[in-house]
Amino acid sequence: MISVNDLKDTFFQQFNCVKDAAYFSPGRVNLIGEHIDYNGGFVLPVAISLGITALIKKRNDTTVRMYSCDFNEMVQFSMDDEFHFSENKKLHWSDYVKAMLQVLKDKQVTLLGADILLASDLPLGAGLSSSAAIECLIAFMFNETFYENNRVALAIDAQHAERTYIGVQCGIMDQFAVANGKTNQAMLLNCAEISHQFIPANFGEYQFIIINSNKPRSLTESKYNERRAECEQAFKLLKKYDIAENLCNVHVISLAYLEDDILYQRSKHAILENQRVLHVVQALEKGALEIVGEQLTESHISLDTDYEVSCHELNMIVHYSTHFDGCIGARMTGAGFGGCCIALVKKDRTKKFISYVAKKYTEKTSLSASFYEVNIVDGVKNLDDKF
Ligand code: GLA
Repeated sequence: MISVNDLKDTFFQQFNCVKDAAYFSPGRVNLIGEHIDYNGGFVLPVAISLGITALIKKRNDTTVRMYSCDFNEMVQFSMDDEFHFSENKKLHWSDYVKAMLQVLKDKQVTLLGADILLASDLPLGAGLSSSAAIECLIAFMFNETFYENNRVALAIDAQHAERTYIGVQCGIMDQFAVANGKTNQAMLLNCAEISHQFIPANFGEYQFIIINSNKPRSLTESKYNERRAECEQAFKLLKKYDIAENLCNVHVISLAYLEDDILYQRSKHAILENQRVLHVVQALEKGALEIVGEQLTESHISLDTDYEVSCHELNMIVHYSTHFDGCIGARMTGAGFGGCCIALVKKDRTKKFISYVAKKYTEKTSLSASFYEVNIVDGVKNLDDKF
């Protein structure tokens, strides 16, 4: 997290005034349960200490001036403007801001302007939910009194922004984790019912490490929407034979009714991934970390071979991670096609792990990976001048 103190001078330089509030919105990492939030499954994300810090001074008019430290760019518009969104998937960071504000406008929330500074230590577009982080942040800053006690609504409205105005038919996981995360807890989210419970994220002598492949994600949006459509098609067929209410709850035996290989693979992943999540939760509760690790790696194999959302770079990271003595499991996390992996590594072996995987990864891909050791934190919040 970038501290508020480090940003105060820049705020003054940009806006010639002093902020009156500060906020932090975390990124998220999904421990397990990938590509099943939109299939009615269980997922297990955590909010992480990498995220976006915002300083804000509210205005009495409708002008919004927003400065991004990461892009070194100022954007100005009026709340009264009709918002337009970038086309051809060439999204600008301000599109996410406007998408969220548009949802608030659609809900008739009264919006005045503000001067806002944004600074992020969350790698952007790396599968750690930088988009959910900005969406939840904007909604929370402009409608805090309501969302503070209505965090499920915050997640749903932020998801609405992403789906309606950004064009990604995402599930609820990312926005839910960013809105509702809790320090040192993993969130078991039932995506069919949109209900959640917390599981202590107790990894004993292990810790999880995030590894960014730094492979620019390509085709993520179109492939993501394609996967969703395949799952919908599969469930439409399976529903004729199985009483399940969603794809994740279909009985494995019913898969035999699917003649199409692709639909078979996608459905198999969804059903078994859902079971793996519950298996991991049980194992975490018992402190059986070897089992947690095994399930992570199983999840990766399924995402690679059946769901086909991995890529060479992510596979290399998982391959070398799981060959390292001291790592008990690894998988890609997030939508895939690039982005990040997580690995469960013995605490006293993390330094060696990082240098080993970094070296092997560069040898095999000519790219250089980034490694993050993060804390599990609360969802988006007002920093209340504590920092
Ligand atoms: C993206 C989406 C989520 C989820 C993951 C894959 O992050 O925003 O809703 O589907 O991909 O698990």
